[in-house]
Amino acid sequence: MTADGVQPEDQHWPWWPLLPLYPYGRRRTVFSELIHGQLWSLEQLQGVYYVAVPVRLTVAKVSGGLMLVNPLPPTGELRQAIASLEQQHGPVLSIVLPTASGLEHKLPLGPLARAFPQAQIWVSPGQWSFPISLPSSWLGIPSDRTKVLLDDGVPHADDCEWISLGPLDLGVGRFQEVSCLHRPSGALLVTDALVGISADPPALFDLDPTPLLFHARERGDEPLTDTAEARRRGWARLVLFASYLRPEPLEVPSLPELLRHAFRPGLRSIRTHFGLYPFRWKPGWQSAADGLMGAEAPRLQVAPVLERLVLPRAQSALLRWLEQLSTHADLRWLVPAHYSAPLEFDSQRVDQLLADLRQRTWAPSSENWQFLGSIDQSLLDLGVVPREPVLRD
Ligand SMILES: [Fe+2]
Repeated sequence: MTADGVQPEDQHWPWWPLLPLYPYGRRRTVFSELIHGQLWSLEQLQGVYYVAVPVRLTVAKVSGGLMLVNPLPPTGELRQAIASLEQQHGPVLSIVLPTASGLEHKLPLGPLARAFPQAQIWVSPGQWSFPISLPSSWLGIPSDRTKVLLDDGVPHADDCEWISLGPLDLGVGRFQEVSCLHRPSGALLVTDALVGISADPPALFDLDPTPLLFHARERGDEPLTDTAEARRRGWARLVLFASYLRPEPLEVPSLPELLRHAFRPGLRSIRTHFGLYPFRWKPGWQSAADGLMGAEAPRLQVAPVLERLVLPRAQSALLRWLEQLSTHADLRWLVPAHYSAPLEFDSQRVDQLLADLRQRTWAPSSENWQFLGSIDQSLLDLGVVPREPVLRD
């Protein structure tokens, strides 16, 4: 048993080899109430090479029971949290995968669907798996109780309004996200469309802050030291990685230098990656991170990867979606599938975001955006993505 009283087998997730992301076979779940009696959050960590960001499943109260939006692996811990909600609010009636891409949200759908055999499954139109396209049945999605959002109707129309971002033809597949305005709470549930990032590390890292401490160091031969300051520094760097993949203030040291600091006594453990830390942060990294994170409240934004790699030539689709949202007087909150939630998100806040987006340069290629811009340029040169994305209606 762990310090917080959870059995390790309740955090077991046997399907991890499908998408080999940290923390591999063991996933802790953090449960919290977002809006009293209406919305709850279940968060797990997901990432590569210790770059782990929280992924959220949102549970919404609907008439007659519960709706699960944005699937997560159904570990014992996650199922126990949902079971306790079912006792108070009724059974899980539906499971919704509102994104056409987003493999990290799609892979857990099959196992989650099997954990709730009575639930109706709803998926966004145009399901695809990048970089390879797999039929839904291969991902274990039960076709006999699966419906397609908008094409086959919508779930819980009494409580929810469904608003589509896209569809867009991306060449490699389709981008579409069907957001849900949950009227009883006034919250808009989204997947990757928008995020809000806080300077405080998420509670998920409380049990095991290793990924934060790993990145808090300047060199591989430094030990992992646990302080509040080190956790915040590690979190800021993790956010930079997750946002820009290769942020500008980051250097990759030469191999001889890397090996000189590695394998020192005290660092010969898997936890420190044997002293290998193949990154060096240049001055200015903190201000780059400050541009992404809010000190007082989480900073609302379009995630740079979405802006630069998914929608670089399709800002109009995002603006159109936001214009639609700003007409909803009952909008109060935003609950994304990553980072902080709930975020304040009324029509005034939407208008402010619209004004910011119209005024600044969309999908730049300079400074921190350079690496993302170069990936997009390569895809354009190879003809993988179209110069003019086709908006579909
Ligand atoms: Fe995502």
